Amino acid sequence: MTPEPAPYVGAMSAFALADLGGHDRVTLAQNESAFPPSPLAIAAGCAAAARSHLYPDPDWTLLRDALARAYSVDRDLILCGNGSMDLIACTIRAFAHAGSEVLATDYAYNFSAAATAQAGAVFVKAREADFIVSVDAMLGAVTPATRVAFVCNPGNPTGTRIANSEIVRLRAGLHPDILLVVDQAYGEFDDQDPRPIFDLVARGDTVVLRTLSKAYGLAGARVGWGLFPPAIAAEVRKMQNSNGVTTVSLAMAVAAVDDQGYMRRIVSQTAAIRDRFAAGLRQAGLEVIPGSTNFLLVRLSDPEAARATERSLREAGVIVRGVGGYGLADCLRITIGPEEVMSRVLGLLVGSFAA
Ligand SMILES: Cc1ncc(COP(=O)(O)O)c(C=O)c1O
Repeated sequence: MTPEPAPYVGAMSAFALADLGGHDRVTLAQNESAFPPSPLAIAAGCAAAARSHLYPDPDWTLLRDALARAYSVDRDLILCGNGSMDLIACTIRAFAHAGSEVLATDYAYNFSAAATAQAGAVFVKAREADFIVSVDAMLGAVTPATRVAFVCNPGNPTGTRIANSEIVRLRAGLHPDILLVVDQAYGEFDDQDPRPIFDLVARGDTVVLRTLSKAYGLAGARVGWGLFPPAIAAEVRKMQNSNGVTTVSLAMAVAAVDDQGYMRRIVSQTAAIRDRFAAGLRQAGLEVIPGSTNFLLVRLSDPEAARATERSLREAGVIVRGVGGYGLADCLRITIGPEEVMSRVLGLLVGSFAA
């Protein structure tokens, strides 16, 4: 006899990360930043390492202050976490339970499905049209069991976004007893004013999540944050590890957030590389889904072409993300890396389709 997991845990699959195939590869499979963090963040992290004999500040005081300054938001609404994955998991686990439903969309970020399974709840996908979230489909998929609605804007793996006004319409159409979670992990790459979405938090039934993993280049430091109505925050904090963001990560995050100029340069340089890469692929006849993030979804003729392309890039030492697990077996998701890497990948892709 061996110890048995809880039945819903036994029934879950482990969360699938990209197969990176060793450390000598160019990895364009995890939507990491093409650029390292701000030099000020690196210096702050090094200095903070000397304080690692002490536990970190469990209230993220300096980081909340820095985020409040940079985003013009109320510091008291901010929760921080060990990456936004921590906040996604704790929020879903706090509000969904066995027998309840988490409503998302066809190509919703996979981890929201994993977090739903961790809560023993059911993940329901509303139809997306042309890789774009449909608010009407989401509203049509609400049932009496819906506890949480999760929308990622811009989306991963699609890279597409809907207008803020659509998110506002979604909120208005959901009953206030359904918690709306708006995941804006790529929000800094979106050209829309974040204010109308941040303002939804004051209603008391909406959470907005952000991360320092993408635009700030801090994926390895694991720092996410979000705006939470106080009553929702109180429940989510019960689910969190109270020392989940390390002293070094907090120091790096404060310095990175204070260096808004560096972040904006990363975002605009990444977008410029992305747009050149997309133009090159389209010129070669490939279908590229128009994206507002630091990655692109490329659609091949069929699943076999996608697999063959992924394989040939892997053989050339470049790892991209097959997205068959999202039901997009004919697509590849390609993170935008540095210019020279993307020129090489463009050459490989164009060469393999010309051959
Ligand atoms: C949409 C979305 N949300 C959240 C995350 C998690 O980010 P992190 O836990 O690094 O903050 C990711 C990471 O790729 C993502 O794509």
